[in-house]
Amino acid sequence: MIIQKTENSRISTFDPSNFSFGNTFIDHMIICEYENGKWGDVKLVPYGPLQFSPAMMGVNYGQACFEGMKAYKDKDGQVFLFRPEKNFERINKSAKRLAMPEVTEEMFLDGLKALVDIDREWIPEGEGMSLYIRPLIFATEEALKARVANKYMFAIVATPAKMYYTEPVSVKISDHYSRAASGGVGSAKAAGNYAASFYPTQLAIEEGYDQIIWTDDATHEYFEESGTMNVFVRINDTIYTPPTSEKILDGVTRDSFIQLAKKRGFEVKVEPIKVKDVVAAQKNGTLKEVWGVGTAVVTTVFEALGYNGEKLDLPRLSDEESYAVILKNDLVDLQTNLAEDPFGWRVLVDHAMETV
Ligand SMILES: Cc1ncc(COP(=O)(O)O)c(C=O)c1O
Repeated sequence: MIIQKTENSRISTFDPSNFSFGNTFIDHMIICEYENGKWGDVKLVPYGPLQFSPAMMGVNYGQACFEGMKAYKDKDGQVFLFRPEKNFERINKSAKRLAMPEVTEEMFLDGLKALVDIDREWIPEGEGMSLYIRPLIFATEEALKARVANKYMFAIVATPAKMYYTEPVSVKISDHYSRAASGGVGSAKAAGNYAASFYPTQLAIEEGYDQIIWTDDATHEYFEESGTMNVFVRINDTIYTPPTSEKILDGVTRDSFIQLAKKRGFEVKVEPIKVKDVVAAQKNGTLKEVWGVGTAVVTTVFEALGYNGEKLDLPRLSDEESYAVILKNDLVDLQTNLAEDPFGWRVLVDHAMETV
């Protein structure tokens, strides 16, 4: 790895109690270029803009995919990644689906660790605080030709994060728009998936909702995901979540929730969820909770579902009663080294830079 440390660290301007998530970037970033059929050197360089042509294929034809993951600091200042190998596997799954070159484990994991290590001071401490990390791959070839590109960049950037979306939200069950289609790219973290979701989300917001529950493209009869989260439903004391598929992203938080729920002895059923069953359960009072999970928010609890122009209210459970909150706390405790890690999910980021 080629390391070029910044001579103008911005850390003294960073106020961990007052910063804007997603707009504040740490001092460094990782970049690596792909050309002539192979990846070049991984470089750790000062964070900053790069120069590309508007004819860059990544922006014209959408060959671009990314990951979202976090690093956490415990009360002793130790830094941990959470299941980073899952993100490594998933970025390559996305890259493959978009006909882009896969990255090596060394590029991804060593790059990640080196970046988090050198900028560990940027990781805010305390409840709900973390560093959100964005690895991405995009086509950089300058060519207006609708074909697979020959040049790419792998990059990792990161922004300090705090918990957001803490209030319960209301979500509209989509009866027209879809996030993904059979044979499409729903299971990839393709940049274009997000672009396609913004307009329907805007419409739902205009109708007074915060988010959308995406349903299947063929019938709109089954739950798929919610916003940029996987979705869970609790009817009586059973938790349901749809199986992952080519239309549903295989979320790291989803998988962790399933395992944590089983560890607690909760009944979990990974099976298709019918909209009409959820609506019927709301009407007969057996629908206890619906929530979304993902790296950025961990959990968002829903307070109402919009269906056929009707707002269906969900019960307000206490934190002790809510499986969503219990499992969220289990997960956050594990991520931040407040609890045992029987699964081996935490990965300590050593102080390695001195030896590089
Ligand atoms: C569409 C979509 N579904 C689900 C998730 C949750 O995945 P994860 O738990 O790996 O963050 C995300 C966020 O990354 C997402 O963008």
